[in-house]
Amino acid sequence: MATVRAVPALRTVISAWKRQGFTIGFVPTMGALHDGHLALVREAARRADRVVASVFVNPAQFAAHEDLGSYPRNEARDAELLAGAGCALMYAPAVEEMYPDGATTTISVGAPAEGLEGAFRPQMFGGVALVVAKLLNQVQPEVAVFGEKDYQQLIVVRRMVRDLDIPTEIVGSPTIRDDHGLALSSRNAYLSEDQLEVARRLNGVLAGAGVEAAAGGSLPGIEAAAHEALLRAGFSHVDYVAVRRAEDLGAFEAGAVDGPARILAAAWLGKTRLIDNMAIQP
Ligand code: PAF
Repeated sequence: MATVRAVPALRTVISAWKRQGFTIGFVPTMGALHDGHLALVREAARRADRVVASVFVNPAQFAAHEDLGSYPRNEARDAELLAGAGCALMYAPAVEEMYPDGATTTISVGAPAEGLEGAFRPQMFGGVALVVAKLLNQVQPEVAVFGEKDYQQLIVVRRMVRDLDIPTEIVGSPTIRDDHGLALSSRNAYLSEDQLEVARRLNGVLAGAGVEAAAGGSLPGIEAAAHEALLRAGFSHVDYVAVRRAEDLGAFEAGAVDGPARILAAAWLGKTRLIDNMAIQP
């Protein structure tokens, strides 16, 4: 697997592949790879002839108080894992390559980026939309694969690609979980053994609440009970538990599920913030 760090070098490889008639699949990452990312690479490899993965810790999506400085980085290990999963090219630009001096353009996706993560991390989706738009322009893939673990991000990217006429198919890939159901995340590396025990209860609480929502229960009551259950399980703080429409994350006006839905949550264990979500079929 080759590595490139600059847009011209990336374009040279991509153009050669396109001239040979190969389709391109793309997986954007911030590195610190785990089996969840590798599942995205394998999905891209099923859908395209050549897979490109980016490894770029995107400063634009972190607020000043967040973990940009301490975000885990190990490019050599990432490269080995990507190659093993069938990736043909790693694109690992420096910050100055992605955001040259004088860059001022921003992207605001609107409604899908508001609420949930957008309410607690207001800078995040502007930063995600900007870097994903740039990456898609740079790589020019036919298909790009995103994890359902970051479900709101997937919805935001789908809307942006549609609204900006970016000719890439966006594919969502199911969350990969450990044997206890904990969604794999690079930030799980921050958890102590005790915190890991608590973290593993998040998916069970969401699944239980999802069953009640699917049975037609009142959403405000279900969300409040799940919030309490997470605190009782040992989470230090809960940002939100919410049941939303799967397609666009809008609220169910009637206060009960009446179509495809998703239950989503964000909760803290000490200084570590975990998110998870799952499908609800009424
Ligand atoms: O999901 C991530 O790792 C990031 O938000 C992404 C899509 C690579 C953009 O920086």
